[in-house]
Amino acid sequence: MSDTLVKLVDIPQRGDARGDLSVAELSGALPFPVRRVYWIHGTKPGVSRGFHAHKKLRQLCVCVTGSVRMSLFDGRREESVVLDSSAKGLLIGPGLWREMHDFSPGCVLMVFADAEYDEADYIRNRTEFTDYVAGR
Ligand code: TYD
Repeated sequence: MSDTLVKLVDIPQRGDARGDLSVAELSGALPFPVRRVYWIHGTKPGVSRGFHAHKKLRQLCVCVTGSVRMSLFDGRREESVVLDSSAKGLLIGPGLWREMHDFSPGCVLMVFADAEYDEADYIRNRTEFTDYVAGR
């Protein structure tokens, strides 16, 4: 895969004349074993979310409705991408600071993760994060 922070994977599309159908098979299409799925929705206007990194967690984010801008920072470089299609998933590995901005009204962001929720895996302070990646 490329050296960019933004890593997009294709989500298989099985829609037809009736409408759309997107598939993420838990073995195969997703690049890790899924232990948790959650979705962010009902985000209030003007709200940004995220502002944290994970030490180990791997995630795949799919914007199934609407759009959201995802910003990634590895301690040196910052890249951002607008997710606006259920046909693309954004892979976020460990050691990446992420922020979510510009949620459209009605946006639903589905997140597949390879572990259950663990607050100890979070780094929620940006200075702590830059120190963490500098020390790796
Ligand atoms: P958080 O990951 O901080 O959300 P965001 O980065 O989008 O702002 O989670 C918000 C709150 O929800 C936080 O108190 C932890 C809790 N939470 C869980 O209990 N389980 C989960 O799977 C997730 C993702 C969050």
